[in-house]
Amino acid sequence: MTGNLLCRDAAIEIPLICGAMYPCSNPELVAAVSDAGGIGIVQPISLTYVYRHEFRAGLRLIKQLTPKPVGMNALIEASSRRYHEKMVEWVTIALEEGLRFFITSLGNPRWVCERVHAAGGKVYHDVTERKWALKGRDAGVDGLIGVNRRAGGHAGPLSAEHLLAEVADLGLPVVCAGGIGDQHDFAAVRRMGYAGAQLGTRFIATVECRASEAYKQAILDADEDDIVLSERITGVPVAVINTPYIQRMGLKAGRLARWMLRGKRTKHWMRTFYALKSIWQLKRASLDESGEKDYWQAGKSVAKIDRIEPAGEIVRRFGAAVKGNG
Ligand SMILES: Cc1cc2nc3c(=O)[nH]c(=O)nc-3n(C[C@H](O)[C@H](O)[C@H](O)COP(=O)(O)O)c2cc1C
Repeated sequence: MTGNLLCRDAAIEIPLICGAMYPCSNPELVAAVSDAGGIGIVQPISLTYVYRHEFRAGLRLIKQLTPKPVGMNALIEASSRRYHEKMVEWVTIALEEGLRFFITSLGNPRWVCERVHAAGGKVYHDVTERKWALKGRDAGVDGLIGVNRRAGGHAGPLSAEHLLAEVADLGLPVVCAGGIGDQHDFAAVRRMGYAGAQLGTRFIATVECRASEAYKQAILDADEDDIVLSERITGVPVAVINTPYIQRMGLKAGRLARWMLRGKRTKHWMRTFYALKSIWQLKRASLDESGEKDYWQAGKSVAKIDRIEPAGEIVRRFGAAVKGNG
């Protein structure tokens, strides 16, 4: 192992994370990235709802596929008590099953830090701006994942350079998430000062990812300009491929939805509605081989992705590109 902080914290050889992806994180993909020396991150709703594994059984399946460490994503949106209780249960089970690397998104990660640190693990927190990084630092996180404006999923507002400059003084390792399509991009962000990288889109176009062939092909075909931000999925902008279906639906949330999202009381109902609707829609679209519901999340890294390949080959090629570079 090197002196690289992400490698030390995640107990891995190559400072490369396959980020959590709802609905694309299937056990085989998570395991393949870890097995090759990076780290795959379990997305609990993907594991249980999309791929139908009971949570503990799903983690055990991954452990059968690789002896290497895997991580877990704790999306800590606090608007529903039932969801919070479920997330506490998932974190507890993950710790019991030996996971020691956690990535938190949204909300206040304090309770996750307390539990994970008590077990000797580490917590990295997804941030898009300095104010969230300060909140994470105050809650005790060990590192930051800087989600920039080129990312797939919920992209941030800043460039990779700008975001790093905003949080570099906080004394925490920072991982770059967004827009990394090949090993040259990876080496470039390492030179910029990032401890490592978290990739999403690149790992969808892999043999192990269970997303439909139509979805994978759309990633290979798309260029940077084909990525647009849609509010129609979750109520906040999400990066998607600009397919005919997306064009028909439009990119903005409807008027009623926008009004409800502004109201103090109605915004919670609206968010819950969006969360449930998007969980169902994205699952259906990602697995649909007919390609009719072309509702596909992807980031600007699509421009550099030109073939479907085994996830392990990507990890090893990226690793070779930064060898000897800590
Ligand atoms: C299809 C898709 C689903 C995602 N789902 C999640 C998620 O459930 N939780 C999360 O924290 N991040 C999610 N992300 C963000 C990724 O973990 C990662 O930060 C991002 O994809 C990096 O940008 P890239 O796609 O340009 O590599 C998702 C990204 C994609 C492309």
